[in-house]
Amino acid sequence: MKNRKKLLKNKNILLGVTGGVAAYKAVDLIRRLKDEEASVTVIMTDASKNFITSLSLEIASGNRVYSDLFDNPMSHINLPRNADLMVVAPATANMIGKFAGGIADDLLSTCLLSFNGKVVIAPSMNWRMYENPIVQENLERLKSIGIVQVGPEKGTLACGEEGVGRMAEVSEIMETIKSSLSSKDLSKKKIIVTAGPTREYLDPVRFISNRSSGKMGYAVARACIRRGADVILISGHSYLRTPGNLKSFISVETSQEMRDAVFKNLRGTDIVIMAAAPADFSPETKRKTKIDKMDKLNIHFKNTPDILLEIGRLRNRPLLVGFAAETGNRLDRARTKLLQKKTDIIVFNDVTSPGSGFDVDTNRITIIEKNKETPFPLMTKDEAAEAIMDAVVNSLQG
Ligand code: PMT
Repeated sequence: MKNRKKLLKNKNILLGVTGGVAAYKAVDLIRRLKDEEASVTVIMTDASKNFITSLSLEIASGNRVYSDLFDNPMSHINLPRNADLMVVAPATANMIGKFAGGIADDLLSTCLLSFNGKVVIAPSMNWRMYENPIVQENLERLKSIGIVQVGPEKGTLACGEEGVGRMAEVSEIMETIKSSLSSKDLSKKKIIVTAGPTREYLDPVRFISNRSSGKMGYAVARACIRRGADVILISGHSYLRTPGNLKSFISVETSQEMRDAVFKNLRGTDIVIMAAAPADFSPETKRKTKIDKMDKLNIHFKNTPDILLEIGRLRNRPLLVGFAAETGNRLDRARTKLLQKKTDIIVFNDVTSPGSGFDVDTNRITIIEKNKETPFPLMTKDEAAEAIMDAVVNSLQG
């Protein structure tokens, strides 16, 4: 059994916290980083201490919190030297301005100048400040030297006003950190990922569907984006947040719509990953008006298009990854799908196994290739997606 791969395992993250109301979110960010087995060291500015205590950040990180430039005169060199990535969250207009202007007058700004690795900043401020041309110019300057910006988002700000200035969600910051530390082994690749269920309508208000939430497919899309690919995500109904940095997002309802969207975008596509759960049957007719209540209702079904099978039959087809959602440990059925649907990879998951399959954050998969089968332990869908994309990259190279 192959081990799970945690992207941030053993990475040293230096987290700068500056003086904004979003400073309290640093605790959540630290917790999420530690969940991924990263080590976090926090540098606070003096202003941030008005919003959060150093004790909270020390308890959350399990490490000493630094703040004073002169406590240990070498910390502005030693802290960045041991870091894999620096993230400033929240980043105030003041800290952004200092960084862009090369000013080093406290521990955080000094560390930012002496660090030569990846830096992620998550701006947070009032919308008027954010729109100020000087702040925008400073952000452009930082972008031009490779500093990665995440957010801010539109929403209600601390002052009660509505506008762009709210710090990015912690999940977005995590995604940006992971992406910054990922190898770009899928850059220039065009990938179609399908996700979620389809809805096959009986009448305008009723449909047949399944329990797919889109979590697995969205995790695959995020893994592809982290690795530098151009991703088109074609999704059935899902409550999930659309991943950032997609090339395009196409929302569909029925299996036929999913098929049409896939084929419309197939030209020039290098890889197709079918993580969706399209219905295999749809009602033969869709009534134009709501079906009245009656004692008995007989519904006749017809087959929907089998998208994977159709792509598998193409002469110059992209690299093809399908899933096999089985009830029970039916690896034999998954192997048959690999052959019948002519895919390069089939990802087997037993959807009745605890923590696996539909509408959960974890999955237990076996990656089936023509001459190889790799079982994995129960892991998060993000980890499963990484394992699938490792297999895809190997297959492209082989
Ligand atoms: O969305 P989540 O809640 O995270 O759940 C994840 C998942 C269980 C949906 C996912 O891990 C999964 O297994 N997806 C495939 C579901 C499925 O339809 O499996 P299947 O064994 O019935 O189909 C085999 C393959 O053919 C799949 O790649 C499927 O996308 C594809 N297919 C199926 C029907 C159809 N009409 N056209 C297809 O292309």
